[in-house]
Order: sequence, then C-alpha cells, then structure tokens
Amino acid sequence: MDQIRITGGGPLKGTIAISGAKNAALPLMCACLLSEGTLRLGNIPHLADISTAVHLLAQLGVTVTMNGDGQTAKDADGHAGRVLSLTAGQIASTTADYELVRKMRASVLVLGPLLAREHEARVSLPGGCAIGTRPVDIHLGALEELGAEIELEDGYVVARAPGGLRGGVVRFPQVSVGATENLLMAASLAKGETVLENAAREPEITDLANCLIAMGAEIEGLGSDRLVIQGKPTLNGADYSVMPDRIETGTYMAAAALTGGDLTLTGTTTSTLGAVVEAMERTGVEINDDGNGRVRVWRNGARLKGTDVTTLPFPAFPTDMQAQFMAIMATAEGASLITETIFENRFMHVPELTRMGADITINGNAALVRGVDRLKGAPVMATDLRASVSLVLAGLAAEGETVVSRVYHLDRGYERLVEKLAACGADIERIRE
Ligand code: EPZ
Repeated sequence: MDQIRITGGGPLKGTIAISGAKNAALPLMCACLLSEGTLRLGNIPHLADISTAVHLLAQLGVTVTMNGDGQTAKDADGHAGRVLSLTAGQIASTTADYELVRKMRASVLVLGPLLAREHEARVSLPGGCAIGTRPVDIHLGALEELGAEIELEDGYVVARAPGGLRGGVVRFPQVSVGATENLLMAASLAKGETVLENAAREPEITDLANCLIAMGAEIEGLGSDRLVIQGKPTLNGADYSVMPDRIETGTYMAAAALTGGDLTLTGTTTSTLGAVVEAMERTGVEINDDGNGRVRVWRNGARLKGTDVTTLPFPAFPTDMQAQFMAIMATAEGASLITETIFENRFMHVPELTRMGADITINGNAALVRGVDRLKGAPVMATDLRASVSLVLAGLAAEGETVVSRVYHLDRGYERLVEKLAACGADIERIRE
C-alpha cells in the first residue's frame, strides 16, 4: 500500500485551488435518479469516492460520461473541476449491493431517490466504519413517515412504496446530514407536501436543495432546520456546479496555521465554514476572505494559543475538522479541550499524534491537548479520512521525517493532496509500493 513521506520544514507559502466538495457531489450524483433527463454536474473532484459512486449508479442503469464534450472549463487559476453527465433514462436495477455500500457509506443515498422514482429499493446496510457504527435508523424511520414499507432482510434494507410515496411530517430525532439528504430527494417526487423538522443545515444540504430546485423541485426553508417540499410528478435534467469543498478549505487553512505560513486558497469561501473561522482566529491565525473566491490565511509570527472547540451540527464547529484542529493545537501555547459530540469513536488520530510527541489526554468524548514546543516525525498509521490528513498536517511542522501509511483513506477525500502541498514548499512525496 502506498505511503506518504513528509520531512518537516518551514512555512508553506503559495496558492492552492480548492476542489468541488466530496460531501456535496455524492448526494448530487444520486439526485440524477429522480429524473429521466440528464443532470450535468460541474466542479466534480477527482476522488475515489466519486469513482465508487459512478460505479454504483452505472450498476443501477445510469449512463455516466465524464467531462461531457471533453472540454474542461478552466477558471482563472487553471482549476479544472470535471464535468459529469448522468442520465437515468431507465432504471435497470433497484439494488445497491453490499460490495459497493461497504466501500462507501454514502451509497445509502440512493435509497430515497430509488424509492421515490421506482417505488422500491433494496440497499445493503452500510455496516460500521472506523469512526462509529453509523446506523441508518433515522433514514428508515423518516421514509416510513412518507408511506414506505421497510423490512430488513439478509443485511439489506428492502423498501417498498406501492403507489408511490406521499407527503408527510418528519421530525428527525437527531440531526442527520444523510437522512436529511435522503428525505429531501424522496419528498421531491412524493405526492403532496412534506415538512422536515430538525433537518441538518450543513451547506451541502443547501447545495443539494438548490440542485433539486434547478431540476424543478419546490423547496422552501433552505439553510434552516425546517424544510418544506411540494412533491412533483417528475423532475427534469439540469446543469449544476458543485460547491467548493469547505473541509478541504479548512484543512489547508490548518496547514498554513501549523507551519506559520501564508497560503491563498482559490475557488472557495469561508462562509460555509461555520465556527472554524472564529476558532482559528482565537488561536491567532489571520484570515481574509476577499468575497471573490480567494481566502488568504497566514500567521503573524507569534506562537498560536490553545482554545477549546466542541463539534456540533452546522453552523457550529464541524466534526470533519476536529482532527485537523487537534493537530494545530498540539503545538499551541497552553491547553485546548476538544469535545467530539457527533461520532462515538473519532479520536483515532490521538495515539498517532501522541507517537509524534503530542501531549493529549482522552476522557470520554473530550480530549485535553497540552501544547508542546514541536512534534517529532514518526511512522504513523491512518485510520479514517480526516485522521489521515491530520497526521500529514502534523508531519509538515514536525522535526524530521514522518511516514503516513494506508493513504488510500486520503484518496477518498483529498484531490492531489501531495501536489498541492508540494507546490507550496512542503517536502512531501508519495511512495508507491
Ligand atoms: C455526513 O455523514 C458526512 N458524509 C460525514 O463526513 C460527516 O462527518 C457527517 O455527515 C456529519 O457532518 C457525507 O456527507 C458523505 P450523519 P452522515 O447522518 O450523513 C448518527 C467525511 O469525513 N446516525 O449526520 O453519515 C451517526 O452514526 C465524512 O467526509 C444515526 O444514529 O452523518 C453519527 O453519529 C465522515 N442514525 C451522527 O448520527 C442514522 O440513521 C451524525 O451522522 C444516521 C446517523
């Protein structure tokens, strides 16, 4: 398996083009199932998860072409997000099998659209993953509110909606990004009005809602925790561009903070980062968003100060930035209490950071980080996407060499990570095994 070798060094300086958001692109791709028309999605990132989603949709009968007419529009920064054309003219199968769902939990997002379009779906239960059991009970309970009949058979969710889904009132027992996305898509073709209460407010939800509206859906309450959808008999194709990846943006902001560098991130915004901006500014990081797609992040030379963060649903501090923020706090002055409230097991980066000399004590869902002067490079192991990248970040500023194994986790969520960092002065290379 490939590894990434980093030799800790000086401040990163330069420009990084931010890719399209993985966690917006995946539900947007599943939305193609709602229409016989062609959905063209721009700014699609080159990621393993996108390829898995293409494979899954093709198995369901979707015709998928990459880069459409072969032209890839380049913006001023030479940034070339790919264009995906997806046409679900005929659904050939309504089964998402275990082999694919096992690889990517987001496959469960075909459940709502298939049920709405074909009135049936058979989707493997995702099984757990490194960061937790991650059941789908909230998805299933909510779909039953729209008239779905759901059984669990041989590890599969078998869902039927004879005569189609009907509108209803869904009150989510807890905030769930995926369940909100599944229900948004299902309700778009249900008969009548659906109200989603306690809906997730993550920007990726708003991106999906805007795409559905472009396809002819009628949705109100975007950005709020109460979404009202008037179901339509059919939806059309549409052209839509995926939002910039806010977690990739936050990750490179962390790289500038950690190395005392000065980075300009292009094709992105801080408006979707929730509490990340305030938390970073509290540590002493300088951030300037020109409102025109360019975000500059730099340090004024002083050592960063420890500050506390708690992960919660948007607009609070996102769980997907918790590991990266901990890497920054590992060498900040003073202490930082980092509390993880979304996933039950999302501290796997802690033992690896500790091997690099970090001083971190875990107590339940809280980690107390006491800043040390400098981390030391070491061979470390990645376990999930964001844990992996926090180890790369730590290696950028550590003394000596860090070798990160199992980098396939990184390929799931970061496009050209090594190239983007190397272009800003990082001493980093991928070792192909
Ligand atoms: C999405 O996962 C993201 N993935 C995750 O990003 C992100 O961490 C998460 O939202 C929270 O923001 C994608 O968008 C593809 P949830 P999702 O449903 O939808 C529990 C990354 O690194 N839950 O909001 O699966 C669940 O176990 C990934 O890019 C239930 O109990 O998250 C978790 O503890 C990691 N029952 C909590 O709710 C359910 O039916 C939040 O999960 C559904 C969820």
